[in-house]
Amino acid sequence: MILISLQVLLLLFINILSADLSNMSNSPTALIVGYTGSVGRELVKELVKSNLFKKVILVGRRQVHYDDDEITNKTEQRQIDFEKIDDYAESFQGADVHFCALGTTRGKSGAEGFRHIDYDYVVNFGRIAKQNGCKHFHLVSSKGANANSFFLYTKTKGESEQALQQMAFERLSIYRPAMLMGERDESRPLEAVAVSIVKHTVQRVAPEWITTPTDILARAMCFNTFVSGKSGNEILENHEIFRLAETKPAAKPLHTNEL
Ligand SMILES: *[C@@H]1O[C@H](CO)[C@@H](O)[C@H](O)[C@H]1NC(C)=O
Ligand SMILES: *[C@@H]1O[C@H](CO)[C@@H](O)[C@H](O)[C@H]1NC(C)=O
Repeated sequence: MILISLQVLLLLFINILSADLSNMSNSPTALIVGYTGSVGRELVKELVKSNLFKKVILVGRRQVHYDDDEITNKTEQRQIDFEKIDDYAESFQGADVHFCALGTTRGKSGAEGFRHIDYDYVVNFGRIAKQNGCKHFHLVSSKGANANSFFLYTKTKGESEQALQQMAFERLSIYRPAMLMGERDESRPLEAVAVSIVKHTVQRVAPEWITTPTDILARAMCFNTFVSGKSGNEILENHEIFRLAETKPAAKPLHTNEL
């Protein structure tokens, strides 16, 4: 008797699980800002190919053409002007999970330009995401982020983290990758040489020591969305990013509140 009911329960459970897996209308919709950067590009690929999201909305300055039909079909692009982000509030609607992969460097944008993007844009995006019912906000920050830092880069990253933490998202995941290693970065020749040296030495021997491949980071962000039972703010250092990237989700709950 007990055995039979156990069996029935088990069957029921398996049914629910498989229904959940095959039913795309239960899957969350993602929104990415910063999809043209080295992390953003990997994120678009990862979120689409994982098949864990119903749709991926890309909000940004420029329209991108994808050669991959699967990516073209599953993404929706919305053009905005970050300087007047409040005029585009409706462009941020319709998503459950928001990914912020915005970021520049002082070398590319100057000190003020860097702060304007890595703080102002990031914080404005967080605020608008929150207003539009964001259930889970993902922020790409940096190793060593610290609002009290003496260095502009880590100080700015730390201040952005703090501002977002104060917004009280249902769930906020902050990633602190080490030196980012992409497939094809538009870096200057000298940097390219340095990156290439690191790639063929340190990264082989101790991958987690000072580097984070952008595809690993993207996978970790994707999978982390489906880690259940978590809420509030979390900070993920490099080793946790590597661990997360290995844990492909079995099912896909996005019900942090119901657990
Ligand atoms: C998928 O889920 C939605 C919402 O929960 C439900 O209305 C729909 O009937 C389901 N479709 C299938 C094929 O299970
Ligand atoms: C993309 O959409 C087009 C038109 O609906 C369809 O013909 C094609 O098979 C789709 N490709 C993929 C890879 O989903």
